[in-house]
Amino acid sequence: MILNKLLGGAVVGAALLLAGSTSAMAVTIGFSQVGDEGDWRPAWTKDMQDEAKKEGIDLKFADAQGKEEEQLKAIRAFIAQKVDAIILAPVVVTGWDKVLEEAKAAGIPVFTADRDVDVKDKSLFVTRISADFNLEGKLAGAWLAQASKGTCNIVELQGTTGAAPAIERKKGFEAVISQFPAMKIVKTQSGDFTTEGGKKVMEAFIKSTDNLKDICGVFAHNDNMQLGAIQAMKEAGLKPGVDFKMVSVDYVPAMKDTLAKGDANASVELRSAIGKYIYPVVLQYLKDKKELPKWIVIPSDLHTAATAQN
Ligand code: AHR
Repeated sequence: MILNKLLGGAVVGAALLLAGSTSAMAVTIGFSQVGDEGDWRPAWTKDMQDEAKKEGIDLKFADAQGKEEEQLKAIRAFIAQKVDAIILAPVVVTGWDKVLEEAKAAGIPVFTADRDVDVKDKSLFVTRISADFNLEGKLAGAWLAQASKGTCNIVELQGTTGAAPAIERKKGFEAVISQFPAMKIVKTQSGDFTTEGGKKVMEAFIKSTDNLKDICGVFAHNDNMQLGAIQAMKEAGLKPGVDFKMVSVDYVPAMKDTLAKGDANASVELRSAIGKYIYPVVLQYLKDKKELPKWIVIPSDLHTAATAQN
């Protein structure tokens, strides 16, 4: 019931604005990417590079290897190079005011993509183009509520501390499970969005827990941490997907296979082929400078073992 409502809301409520087709312009765009953690992010990087080629964009790509200070340097380098626009996928939400003021003073519009920034002056960026992480957390929570009939002790693997998807997925998930008195998070820790991180956290949890039978589900903020947790659980002789309900976010190919095998149960898809939504918005803005809504939402879909087999 809750799940149906949320999925309906995702489709009906998503303000997906796809700008009309834009003719190729000779533009230079700087793209500051978080890094290459997990399977989802490199897939998105490749998509951004491929789509830039198709659009005839000169893309200056900077991989920050998960460090905010590298992203600050990259943005300042883009400003010095006088790029036409900057796309920023920020590692964490805070710490952007000053550098975005510098971009604004240089007359370079900044677009955030995927993750969000928390800045006082919202005019420092044109718009954010991304999925709704809070909704993803809600979909995961609603799936688990339905699958466990509202009774579940949960292990949560959080993403990078301070990152928009970690903050919002947690909030959305908690908003749903708080409606069920017998659902509670009994252990929560960051696995930094990586397979190794998820594996380590789960190994430590298994070692330090006497009665694993009390645990009913694992919610991981991304698939890679869940894949790591699954490895740890199997190595300890446990049966994830059978004795433990496993739900995560991204729906990367390795998770699709894992769902089909039955080692996990659900994953909320975070689309990675989103350059086709992002560039038309940027190019259109460079042409007409028309004000845009502050958030252009890309829909998220829930997948289970049943849909993974298709
Ligand atoms: O910002 C989106 C998140 O970042 C993805 O869910 C995760 O896999 C990535 O690291």
